[in-house]
Amino acid sequence: MRIYDIIAKKRDGQKLTKEEIDFFVQEYTKDNIEDYQASALLMATFINGMDEEETVNLTESMARSGDMLDLSPIDGITADKHSTGGVGDKTSLVVAPICASLGVKMAKMSGRGLGHTGGTIDKLESIEGYNTSIDTDAFFKQVNEIGIALIGQTGNLAPADKKIYALRDVTATVGNISLIASSIMSKKIAAGAKNIVLDVKCGSGAFMKDEESATQLAETMVKIGKKCGRNMAAVITNMDIPLGANVGNALEIKEVVDILNNKGDEQLRELCLVLSATILSISYNWNYKEAYKKAENALVDGSALNKLKELVSAQGGNADMIDNPDLLPECKKSLEILAHENGYIQSIDSKIVGDSAVLLGAGREKKSDTIDYGAGIVLYKKTCDEVKIGDTIAILYAEDDKRLKNAEKLFNTSFKIGKEKPEMKPLIYKTIM
Ligand code: URA
Repeated sequence: MRIYDIIAKKRDGQKLTKEEIDFFVQEYTKDNIEDYQASALLMATFINGMDEEETVNLTESMARSGDMLDLSPIDGITADKHSTGGVGDKTSLVVAPICASLGVKMAKMSGRGLGHTGGTIDKLESIEGYNTSIDTDAFFKQVNEIGIALIGQTGNLAPADKKIYALRDVTATVGNISLIASSIMSKKIAAGAKNIVLDVKCGSGAFMKDEESATQLAETMVKIGKKCGRNMAAVITNMDIPLGANVGNALEIKEVVDILNNKGDEQLRELCLVLSATILSISYNWNYKEAYKKAENALVDGSALNKLKELVSAQGGNADMIDNPDLLPECKKSLEILAHENGYIQSIDSKIVGDSAVLLGAGREKKSDTIDYGAGIVLYKKTCDEVKIGDTIAILYAEDDKRLKNAEKLFNTSFKIGKEKPEMKPLIYKTIM
């Protein structure tokens, strides 16, 4: 088999066989195919697409390119949750404790921040002592003992995706449904959970800008998961505005603690409950309404909050920071963003808010950058809210004035104020099972 012939076949719009896809994935992972040939095949795929069978074959081959986690040492029902990436998205840190408190085994690997979107692992590392890299035996033991473990991705999970994603990133071939779906699902399949719920973001801060393309991506991923023997659901949710009020690592942990104390932002709370209820209903075959009620009870009776504390302690973190979030890292400097006109917030661009948080030090501009865990943004006004001159729209937090000034300039372009109250878009568009 020759990579040249595979490229030519896809260039001419033909369907690739399982063997051809596997040849490309495995040989490219082993550095036996040059980047320029892999780029040509990716571009041909971007332009001519892949059908469902090819997309499933690509996913399975990338999943098999490294370790396939066997979760059988875990007693009970395993579940995983994945978001396609958002700003202020801290739902995993609420959803995993809720579901674990109701007996689902949450053996979860998460990522770090990527560009303007934050990552669960960076958020957890803002808690003093929290260890995100325990070994597999300790990971299984902890899940068996307390029902939950949250760690960073192991080095060898779907290495083909890591390599192919890096190439897509620099060859303008990210935004293709088959390539995105296979990239995300290869990691989820390799991570081993039987029940998988995807939060597919839709809007200005997401890969998928409109409901139609988000639906297509969600349907493709659900089909792939089912073909690989998993119980699947995908919830399509709004990412036109940041989720909740806080953006930035320690600030987001504070908001997580608020929600687990049954307080905080209504929309964030609702999305956490919907995602938890979806996991519970596919894992236990529960009726959705019953699952939602049980998830809500876990917030009201404090059992989900206790589960987060157990998780933090088990992984070496200082659980006092959960009891008293004022102990979490804070930045020395802050700057208030005030309204300069009366009216309503027309929109807040999530991507610009995320980029502003990176400028403040909450994310990385390059891989080697360190994070200021206390840096970030608290939003006091969001889309549709009324504002009067002098009202606080947001407070920016950073370690120095230079960062604050740079971020202020950018953040000021993220929102618009107008006279009319805009129409509120739904938080949740639909669920695909
Ligand atoms: N996230 C991924 O893991 N892969 C993609 O292709 C896009 C988002």
